[in-house]
Amino acid sequence: MKARIVVMPGDGIGPEVTTASVRVLQAVADAFGHTFEFDHFLIGGAAIRLGRPPLPPETAAAAKGADAILLGAVGHPQFDHLPPDQRPESALLALRRGVGAYANLRPARAWAGLESTGPLRPDVLHGTDLVVVRELLSGLYYGQPRGIAADRSSALNTMAYSREEIARIAHVAFKLASSRRRRLVSVDKANVLDVSRLWREVVTEIGREYPDVALTHEYVDAAAMKLVLAPASFDVIVTENTFGDILSDEAGAVCGSLGLLPSASLGYGAGLFEPVHGSAPDLAGRDVANPIGAILSGAMLLSDGLQLKAEGAAVVAAVEHALASGARTADIASPGYPAIGTTAFTDAVIGGRGSFFVAREPKNEPRPLIRP
Ligand code: IPM
Ligand code: MG
Repeated sequence: MKARIVVMPGDGIGPEVTTASVRVLQAVADAFGHTFEFDHFLIGGAAIRLGRPPLPPETAAAAKGADAILLGAVGHPQFDHLPPDQRPESALLALRRGVGAYANLRPARAWAGLESTGPLRPDVLHGTDLVVVRELLSGLYYGQPRGIAADRSSALNTMAYSREEIARIAHVAFKLASSRRRRLVSVDKANVLDVSRLWREVVTEIGREYPDVALTHEYVDAAAMKLVLAPASFDVIVTENTFGDILSDEAGAVCGSLGLLPSASLGYGAGLFEPVHGSAPDLAGRDVANPIGAILSGAMLLSDGLQLKAEGAAVVAAVEHALASGARTADIASPGYPAIGTTAFTDAVIGGRGSFFVAREPKNEPRPLIRP
């Protein structure tokens, strides 16, 4: 296969982790006989610093012509004083909208060897394997009207959802649950919010088309609690934009580090693949960032973006292998354990000899993050 992958490294640790992910994707291309063209474009603070808008027009155009987009991270405290539409984050919101990426899939799982790196007891974390399906193009993030009053005496954001917006994300979540353990938890705040009451009604209606999936509803506060008390009880979670933003960070921390979490944002255009973690400016340029989230975003790019399922599974297996061999970045190393840097960890994933993906027979069937 020939594919054009548009790379947007962005800010902070974004460039380092996307470099890691591109190296792994290139190793996959070499091993499986594909040709990936990687084209790099400016986004976020990296663009603003050069006097460009957060999402330069050529970046937006490239996104539209891409087969898949790999993004690092956007955001830097240096730009916190700017109005919302000039901040680095606005680029991400515009990009998501530009490619029609309404379904954000954020898988989180317990990794062998990392059971005790997170805040939970290993027996509580054991068996955790969930996906947060976050609605990405509506709700508080995009709702109008919004703004701060001229005299700064009040401010307003709007949480709005149409029936159609709820239905399309519900279909994604039900289909995903059908291919997994067939359990879907829809998270809302229907005891308080009108939007949530419509959300619950529509998700329940769509659920009738998926009789094999067990649908339950949870209030967001209770779901947040359950995620720490019994993370392994979840299979697929579907929720609106803001709740999904919050719960997916929680899911990452629970599994050991936010640095582990990848995501895929899918919809009408090219898929957008990015780690869930932010730009972490304090870690930038020091070769200490955990590249796993970005490398696994590359795995999702292969599996869910380019439909290269075996290749995506090979990347997941390679990360498992690197962890099994003892490679740890600082965020997932136990106290006193010798941590390695971003580059060395990526070397461990690729296997050094460049032929890792074909040479090694994984002991267990490689498994994609998102099945099938
Ligand atoms: C995420 C991030 C973004 C979001 C920010 C950077 C705009 O937190 O992808 O979860 O809130 O969606
Ligand atoms: Mg977030």
